[in-house]
Amino acid sequence: MKTYLVTGAAGFIGSNFVKYMLSKHNDVRIVILDALTYAGYLGTIDKDIDNKRCFFVKGDIGDRQLADKLFAEYDFDYVVNFAAESHVDRSITNPQLFLLTNILGTQNLLDAARRAWVTGKDAQGYPTWREGVRYHQVSTDEVYGSLGPEGYFTEQTPLCPHSPYSASKTSADLIVMAYRDTFKMPVSITRCSNNYGPYHFPEKLIPLIIRNILSHKALPVYGKGENVRDWLYVEDHCKAIDMVISKAKDGTIYNVGGHNEMRNIDIVKLIISTIREIMETEPQYRTLLPEADRTDVSWINEGLITYVADRLGHDLRYGIDPTKIKADLGWEPETPFAKGIVKTIRWYLDNPDWVKAVTGTDYQAYYDKMYGNRFAKPNEQNDACIKSAMARKGGCEETNR
Ligand code: NAD
Ligand code: TYD
Repeated sequence: MKTYLVTGAAGFIGSNFVKYMLSKHNDVRIVILDALTYAGYLGTIDKDIDNKRCFFVKGDIGDRQLADKLFAEYDFDYVVNFAAESHVDRSITNPQLFLLTNILGTQNLLDAARRAWVTGKDAQGYPTWREGVRYHQVSTDEVYGSLGPEGYFTEQTPLCPHSPYSASKTSADLIVMAYRDTFKMPVSITRCSNNYGPYHFPEKLIPLIIRNILSHKALPVYGKGENVRDWLYVEDHCKAIDMVISKAKDGTIYNVGGHNEMRNIDIVKLIISTIREIMETEPQYRTLLPEADRTDVSWINEGLITYVADRLGHDLRYGIDPTKIKADLGWEPETPFAKGIVKTIRWYLDNPDWVKAVTGTDYQAYYDKMYGNRFAKPNEQNDACIKSAMARKGGCEETNR
């Protein structure tokens, strides 16, 4: 039996990871630590918490006393740190919170693990570690910055984050590796591309577009919609993390992605056509639409798309080279995008209560604040910025950093 501390598991990927692990393995015990910020919802995991195999603790990853208490109580073998402030747009309006949670929170967990897991010192003065323990940091491809039209991020691509979010995640990765180098701490890191799937909070592109269509609202596409993301079905990411924790050598970093690049505008168009088709062929789902819009669903069309003011410092393209994780661990994504996106849309159609529960009054206030100005100043795309991004290969090799 292995005991995992999984942080941030009331959020999108962490909750999917817990469900994946509990269904895949009989011999795991999981303690979830989550602060239940706006992005964490207990209802997502309440059926998984049985106080036998899965426990829940509400708390901050930056709380030293709590972290020590949990290590003492549960004697963890693994820490898997998902907890983070995760939305780039929010990091532009409130950067400091991202630094506190993502950097100092990570460092606090590393220290708590160090206090619990170190058994002594070796001849050179390096700490020795309890057998079989591992700290795993869930990171992102955004640490590499932005690609032009060619090339992919490998694990050797220089780190070059642009947003406060990605800078905070990069800093956390550097701290994790510093603990590896300084203390010989057993750590691993995965840097994954954009995830999609069930329980994705509707501030991110895919669930936001689904929710807006169902509410007959305009669909905000930043800039010209030409930015490219590399999408991975969330369960494939969970599988990769499970494999890395159990099989990877200490100190290894893996990129995780499945060569599924799409322009934002194409994703939005695909979601529109998929929902329209479902509404036409399975009219029972029309009860999810506003009452006046149910009889004729032809309004579900590309006319809903509204090009709005671009994100500041908007990364043009992300694209992962997953060669290393495939070669070392045999990981492959299992869900093709065409299948995964329909599965995801259907999940949202079948779970309107979850969407309602996570989008209360705070969400509406967030939406008004974040999108009010954007809709008022549509499409101020900075062509010079796009041009220089197109010329880049990715990472910092062509800049002065
Ligand atoms: P999310 O925003 O959906 O969930 C974050 C969770 O962390 C929430 O449950 C929240 O309550 C919790 N949390 C926030 N601050 C906390 C704190 N101080 N202490 C304890 N808990 C706290 O995020 P997500 O999309 O599930 O991302 C999970 C991780 O994966 C993050 O580290 C993110 O950087 C990384 N990641 C995400 C993606 C993606 O596409 N979503 C891609 C690659 C990597
Ligand atoms: P997002 O889901 O926020 O993920 P990330 O910024 O981490 O990649 O955004 C994905 C892409 O979609 C990104 O290029 C920004 C764009 N986007 C929109 O065009 N409109 C929106 O309302 C949102 C939330 C994102």
